[in-house]
Amino acid sequence: MYQVYPRSFADDNGDGIGDLRGLIAKLPYLEDLGVDAVWLTPFYPSPLADGGYDVSDYRDVDPRIGTLEEFDELLRTGREHNIRVIVDLVPNHCSSEHPLFQAALAAGPGSPERDLFIFREGRGDAGDEPPNNWPSNFGGRAWTRAADGQWYLHLFDSAQPDFNWLNPAVPEFFEGVIRFWLDRGVAGLRIDVAHGMFKEEGLPDLAVPERSNRPNSYTHRPEIHELYRTWRSVLDSYPADDYPGERTAVGEVWADSPSTLAPYLAPDGLPQVFNFELITSPWKAPDIRAAVDATLALAGGSRAPWVLGNHDVTRPVTRLGSPEAARAAALLLLALPGSAYLYQGEELGLPEVTRIPDAARQDPRFHRTKGRSVGRDGCRVPLPWSPDGPAYGFSPADSPGSPVAPWLPQPDGWGTYSPPAQAGDPDSFYNLYRNALRLRRSVPALGAGALRWLESPDDTLVFARDPGFVCAVNFGSAPLPLPAHDTVLLSSAPLADGTLPPRAAAWLTGTAE
Ligand code: GLC
Ligand code: CA
Repeated sequence: MYQVYPRSFADDNGDGIGDLRGLIAKLPYLEDLGVDAVWLTPFYPSPLADGGYDVSDYRDVDPRIGTLEEFDELLRTGREHNIRVIVDLVPNHCSSEHPLFQAALAAGPGSPERDLFIFREGRGDAGDEPPNNWPSNFGGRAWTRAADGQWYLHLFDSAQPDFNWLNPAVPEFFEGVIRFWLDRGVAGLRIDVAHGMFKEEGLPDLAVPERSNRPNSYTHRPEIHELYRTWRSVLDSYPADDYPGERTAVGEVWADSPSTLAPYLAPDGLPQVFNFELITSPWKAPDIRAAVDATLALAGGSRAPWVLGNHDVTRPVTRLGSPEAARAAALLLLALPGSAYLYQGEELGLPEVTRIPDAARQDPRFHRTKGRSVGRDGCRVPLPWSPDGPAYGFSPADSPGSPVAPWLPQPDGWGTYSPPAQAGDPDSFYNLYRNALRLRRSVPALGAGALRWLESPDDTLVFARDPGFVCAVNFGSAPLPLPAHDTVLLSSAPLADGTLPPRAAAWLTGTAE
C-alpha cells in the first residue's frame, strides 16, 4: 500500500498544489514501482487548518485538488494499472466550518444541533475555566469557548470540533459517508484516529494531563469495537467477486503496546489496524525482535500491517540516523509477514526537511506549541519528479504563470532524489525499493511463509521464511558474516568478503538452520 498525500504528490495545473490529475498521471510510475493500492489522505473540501484533516464536506473533492469526476477517473485509470484506491475517513472531528458545526453554534445551548458535538459549561464561578483538564494533541487545551459562553471539545486544533459519538445521529451520518465512497468504487478506508471517537461519560479529568497512547477517558474506549462490527458488516455487504473485490479498512490506532491493539483484532472487527512498532521501537536488534514477535503473536502480520513512516512522523532516513539504516529498515519491512505501507517519497530516500522557515510552516502543532514542537511539515514537502526545473518537476515547467512556488518550500538540490536522477544507478534507493517490491511478488516465502528466528550475534537479527528465504539485518557497528546461503537476492549495501556491513540488510536464498 502506497500512501499519497495529495497536496504534495504531483501538481498537474501548475498552481503549486498537488492534485488528482497529477496523481492520475503518475499511476504508471506507481505500477512500475510495484504497489498494489494507494491510500489517499484527505482530498475533501477543507479550510486546511490541519492539512485537510479538518473536513468541511465529506462527500466532495476540494476544488484545488480536483472534482468528483476526476476522482472517478482516478478509480477507472487505477483499475487499468491494477492499483486500487482507499480513502481517508475522518470521523473523530470535522472542520469548524462544516455546516453541522456552524448550525450547532447558531442553535445555542441545549439544542439537538449542539448535541452532535461536545459542548459543556465551563468550570469556576464565571464558567471561564475549561470543563476538564484534557490537553489537545497539538498542544494547549482541548477546549475552546463559544461566543455564548459554552465550551466545545477538540482533541486536535480548535478548528476541529469533536463529534459526540454517543448521539446515534453521528454513526448514522458516517455510515452514509462510508457507503457514498464504497458505492463510488473505492477498495476501502483508512480510519483517522481510530482509537478515538468515544469519550467516557462525564468527561472526567485525567490523572496526568499528558498525551499518551495508553487507554484513557478518550482513547481506546470499549464502545469503539461495537461500532467497528457495524462498519465491518457494511464492508462485507459489498460483493467480493466484482472489482475492486472485498472491501477493506485500516484503522489508525496508536497504542502503547501490542496488547492494547488486541481487542481491535477481533475476527469481526476492522480488517486491518496499523501496528506502529517499527516507528515507536528503538532501532535496536532486541527491541525490534520483541516488537515483531509481539505483533505476529497478535495478528500474524496481515491484519496489523507494518509501516516505517507516514505524514505524521519524521522520515526514516532522518529518524534512523542515516540513509544506510533506512535502506536496511526497508528490507526488514518488506521481508516481514503481512502487508506493508509505504509513504510517498520513502522509495526515493527523502530525508526530513528540517530547514523550513517559520513563516512557511503550516502544521497546527508548530503554531499551537509556539514552535516548541517543530511539527510535521518536514515530511510533507512536495516530491521532486525531475533533477531540475521549476519545483523539481512537482509542477509542470510550462504552466501559465510558472514557476509557481510549491505550497511548502523544497530545499536546494531536492531534484537529486527524483526518480530520473536515481533510475540509472543500480544501487540507488529507488532501485532498492523497486527490486524489493518485485522480489516480494516472485519469492514464494514472502507470501505466506511464517517467520522463524535464526541464531545470530548481538546487534543483528536473522530470520528465515519457508521455503528457502533468509533476511539478515545488521544494526551494529561490526561486519556480520552472512549465514550459509545459495544466492544473495538483494542487499542494501555492497557485501564485503561475504560479510554484511554495519547498518545494512540482505535477502538470501538457501536452507538455513
Ligand atoms: C491523524 C492524522 C493526522 C491528523 C490527526 C487529526 O493522526 O494522521 O495527520 O493531524 O489525525 O485528524
Ligand atoms: Ca494543482
